Amino acid sequence: MKELLEQMHSWISQYMKSFYSEDEEVQQGILIKEKHTGYVTSNCIELAKYLNLSKHDSELAEIIGLFHDVGRFRQYSLYKTFNDADSEDHADLGLKVIDELDFFKRLSAEDNEIVHFAIKNHNKKLVEETDDERKILFAKIIRDADKLDIYRVLEPFLAQKNADKMPKFIKGKERADISPDFVENFVAGNQADYRKIRTNGDRKIVRLMWIYDINFAWTMRKIVERGYINKIIDALPIDNNVQKGIDRLLKYVKNKCNDAE
Ligand SMILES: [Fe+2]
Repeated sequence: MKELLEQMHSWISQYMKSFYSEDEEVQQGILIKEKHTGYVTSNCIELAKYLNLSKHDSELAEIIGLFHDVGRFRQYSLYKTFNDADSEDHADLGLKVIDELDFFKRLSAEDNEIVHFAIKNHNKKLVEETDDERKILFAKIIRDADKLDIYRVLEPFLAQKNADKMPKFIKGKERADISPDFVENFVAGNQADYRKIRTNGDRKIVRLMWIYDINFAWTMRKIVERGYINKIIDALPIDNNVQKGIDRLLKYVKNKCNDAE
């Protein structure tokens, strides 16, 4: 698989560069996704190592990392947005790109199914149900690898107290407070519905609630080490209820970091 993996690396780096643009805003968006692809791929490799996966499986995780967001580039060129709700689901679009490529046909049918399943489910609210434990494992790996890097990308913005410091590509929701239904879900530990986001406080809550969806202690420890959680919490408008949500979250984080896999 090594040779195939090398071909995949060189194909995707060429592919991403083919979307480079003179338009500064477009170029910035493409570069963010290119960098993200690199970091997510490394996260997949590190997670595979932590999980003691075989050489074959860690290469499979690497392929999934490399191609998980391949749909982003076609999405941007077709719709000029990275917003799935305003265009189409970028994971599903990515599978269409992948199915046009000959080298995926060189993977075994089983491996190909795993790659498809993991990429399709990398960004969904819940992973599709299946009895296939390998599919679930690789979906968990890419979901963690992706979230860890999205915290890196969003941290400078989520750590801002002032809503007006948010960049344009984070849609213009200007209020800094948290909507009552978001506070309620945060206190109860329920996932918030990001389609209902009304303020920048809501946006911070949605990202904090991702913590409950982290699968591996490895990922949680990285998130803690890098200070992402504390930086977002420090930028929240805090009252008694929000504090209850924070206490619940921090307790959960502490337990998860001590998980033995
Ligand atoms: Fe993605």
